[in-house]
Amino acid sequence: MSADDKDKRTSGQIAVNESHETAADRHDRADDKRDDSRPIHQDDSIQSVSAQDTPTQSSPEPDASIEELTIEPRKPRKLPRWTFHSIIAVLVVALVAAGVGVWGYSHWRHIAVSVNGTEQQVRADTTLGKLAKDNRDFGAKPGRLISVSGKVLKSTGGEPVVYRVNGKKIASVDATKHKTSKENSKEATGVPANLNSVKLPENARISVKSGKDVVEKHDIQRTVVPFNVIINGHGVIQKLRQAGKDGSSEVWTGKISGERVNKGVVTQPQDVIVDTFSPKPASCKVVALTFDDGPSQYSGPILDILKEKGAKATFFDIGTGSAEYPQMEQRMVAEGHQVASHSNTHPDMKKLNAEQLRTDISQGLANIKTASGVTTKMLRAPYGNFGVDQWRYTSDLIDSNVIWTVDTQDWKKLGAPEISDAALSKAYNGAVILMHDGGGDRSQDIAALPGIIDGLRGQGYEFVTIDQLIAMNGK
Ligand code: NI
Repeated sequence: MSADDKDKRTSGQIAVNESHETAADRHDRADDKRDDSRPIHQDDSIQSVSAQDTPTQSSPEPDASIEELTIEPRKPRKLPRWTFHSIIAVLVVALVAAGVGVWGYSHWRHIAVSVNGTEQQVRADTTLGKLAKDNRDFGAKPGRLISVSGKVLKSTGGEPVVYRVNGKKIASVDATKHKTSKENSKEATGVPANLNSVKLPENARISVKSGKDVVEKHDIQRTVVPFNVIINGHGVIQKLRQAGKDGSSEVWTGKISGERVNKGVVTQPQDVIVDTFSPKPASCKVVALTFDDGPSQYSGPILDILKEKGAKATFFDIGTGSAEYPQMEQRMVAEGHQVASHSNTHPDMKKLNAEQLRTDISQGLANIKTASGVTTKMLRAPYGNFGVDQWRYTSDLIDSNVIWTVDTQDWKKLGAPEISDAALSKAYNGAVILMHDGGGDRSQDIAALPGIIDGLRGQGYEFVTIDQLIAMNGK
């Protein structure tokens, strides 16, 4: 059954259902429907059919005779032309009204913003550029271009006015770049073009700051201002408090102005400061046993005695020895002794120039690091020769220089008893005792060491490393 047929059939059904109405009712309804512009005869034809057939309402299917009836289809209603045009007109007016409404909402609506902490109301579609222009940058000015002597070369040309919206810096035109006259005129009003693309959110917090002045491009002639070396106090330990750094003075020559200005010292030098002291703890009696010029074949027996006696010492090693006897140096570290540097080749450091000295110290420290993994910046300069110039050349390489206070004069090889006597008779609280485990035959040191340890213990001394002794300073 086609859709048209169904329509017809439905119309027939309506006709059946209508059959219970009186003729007068039907006539009235027909009258009512005339304003639908429907031809009256169509309803009449249906009514006439209903009057003839009168099927029962309970019939599930319309009577076949109704199906066969020809019912003239309703003609589609056609809107009068003026109605169609009216609808289009209304739609157009509605769209225009909506557009005006949207624009008006964003244009006439006001939002609150704060500028440098002061609240104000602005139209919702105000850009940062317009706000800046309307308020003449809130009094902020772009930076000026100034000469090396401080004269104003150009009222603009410095950094532009800086705006921040909710903390975010708004990129502004780089005022130091070459500008067209149009850009310059914008800059003169303090409103870089890109601010116009920044819309203001509601409750925006805006800050405005003047641009910084910019000094013209210039040549710089630098002169080094050397640092000084200050060694405070006296004592066995020299400890670096501050490394040295050169300063500089500058003369500027302006590329636009041609001015030449002496700027004086622009970077202050940082002096080497060394504190010298001799720790002497109040609460206990200590001495520091120190062994120089190793590692060597004599280091092993000395380490054996220290281990047996349970005493800790400090070994100031020569870099070349560390490279030759790395296992010995590893053992020193493993058995709790302190390892520090006694140079790389045992030179008189005061006879070296800066470069030679730096090379020797650097290599000595590096050889220790390679042999035992120990990183140390502690030095004992050979012969104790280390003065102001040596500190000046190496304050970035070392952090301490350790002398001695009790010389056992083992190097004279007068015999083990003499070495032992010197140690026991000269020892005092905080003494740094000098012995050797390398640099020649050290069998007398080996022979003397047990008696030295026992004798000092008998006098009430404890044995500490140099680091431990430094830590006791002032305590
Ligand atoms: Ni030495």
